[in-house]
Amino acid sequence: MASSSGSKANGHSAPLPRCVEDREKLEKQRFADDNVLTHSAREQEIVEDNVMEMFEIFLDKYQELTLEKKSFSPCLDREKHLAYLKKGLIQLSSSYECLDASRPWLCYWIVHSIKLLDVDIPEEIAAHVIQFLAKCQCPDGGFGGGPYQYPHLAPTYAAILALAEIGTEDAYCVVNRPKLQSFLMSMRTQDGAFTMHAGGEIDVRGAYCAAVSARLTNVAIPAMFDGTAQWIVSCQSYEGGFAGQPGMEAHGGYTFCSVAALMLLEHDRLMDMTALLRWLCNRQMRYEGGFQGRTNKLVDGCYSFWQAGAFPLIHKILMTENDKALQQEHFMFDQRALQEYILLCCQHRGGGLIDKPGKGRDFYHTCYCLSGLSIAQMGKDDVLGNPENELKPTHPLYNIDLVCANAATKFFETLPVPQPQSSS
Ligand code: FPP
Ligand code: ZN
Repeated sequence: MASSSGSKANGHSAPLPRCVEDREKLEKQRFADDNVLTHSAREQEIVEDNVMEMFEIFLDKYQELTLEKKSFSPCLDREKHLAYLKKGLIQLSSSYECLDASRPWLCYWIVHSIKLLDVDIPEEIAAHVIQFLAKCQCPDGGFGGGPYQYPHLAPTYAAILALAEIGTEDAYCVVNRPKLQSFLMSMRTQDGAFTMHAGGEIDVRGAYCAAVSARLTNVAIPAMFDGTAQWIVSCQSYEGGFAGQPGMEAHGGYTFCSVAALMLLEHDRLMDMTALLRWLCNRQMRYEGGFQGRTNKLVDGCYSFWQAGAFPLIHKILMTENDKALQQEHFMFDQRALQEYILLCCQHRGGGLIDKPGKGRDFYHTCYCLSGLSIAQMGKDDVLGNPENELKPTHPLYNIDLVCANAATKFFETLPVPQPQSSS
């Protein structure tokens, strides 16, 4: 991280936002289209204009502040975000109808966001969530997108994470582990990849969702992931990032799933780390500070997690290899710039977080902007703005509260790995 020591008012030393520190230098980071006007160059220009407007709104207010108040700016609007999230756990607006097959995801996005803000889920609401997720569990294992829906790896992953984050024995015991194990086995393809649901698409999300579900609940058996790491590695593209399937385009969502799954399967040495790092570092936008999902596309707040979330994993891998250059407290991206993008450009004025200025709020972007903010804050003296912006640390592989992840792991480790039933 290009760290800069900021103000020390009130005894805390925080980095200064880039737009405060050197506006001229920042403006030089704008996209150069080399006088070739294309559709995507124009789109990029519009986004940068909108981001500039957000920087300016912030600067206008900032300049009016006393020195002391400057050191508490920018500010994460915790109360508004919490109010938005808590309301979502009780009642959703009709705009969420289209996510009727993703209801465990909604539980996870909201519960995780609340936990990142260091607030406990009220007992009564937690009990409702547990009860609801139990209804989404299918008789033959795995979770569907809602009650009576077919099992699918994505809601299975989301339900298990939400239950782990609620973190009570009642929550853990919802998971039917022997059935989960046979559901996961039934999603395996011959070459070790995973299909998202019976007859569904095969991509690296499947391998990641299966690895998380199996590892966290302690139901993995060697046959479950035979060949999986090799299949994932075959998805690393010529660009260095990972695609959903072999031969496809590298994308941040698939890259996080691939790197995290390889680590969970203890086969991270198989990937081309140099190529991966080159691709990842170049996905952080010079001007906006946030990340794009793929080459030549636009910044989006959700990639604050999907892209930046790969850096702590890489850090861990390289630290294990005892690389001296990494014996430092920062990741290999500009952590300050990412915090600046999230705090200045991704906070919806009514609460909740967004993709980019001008977009509406939703629970997916709220969850992944906050998860990315938590990662960008990791390190010494790295919280931008108000020290109260600091979020709880997230588990880099599971993306749930670190304490909850450890507690769930400990609980499930005390249970024996189920013995697979023969399929004959
Ligand atoms: C492109 O969307 C998005 C994808 C190709 C898939 C993204 C995958 C994830 C976010 C990972 C999901 C993870 C799990 C665990 C299920 P787009 O074309 O709208 O966006 P873009 O222009 O930013 O690429
Ligand atoms: Zn997004």
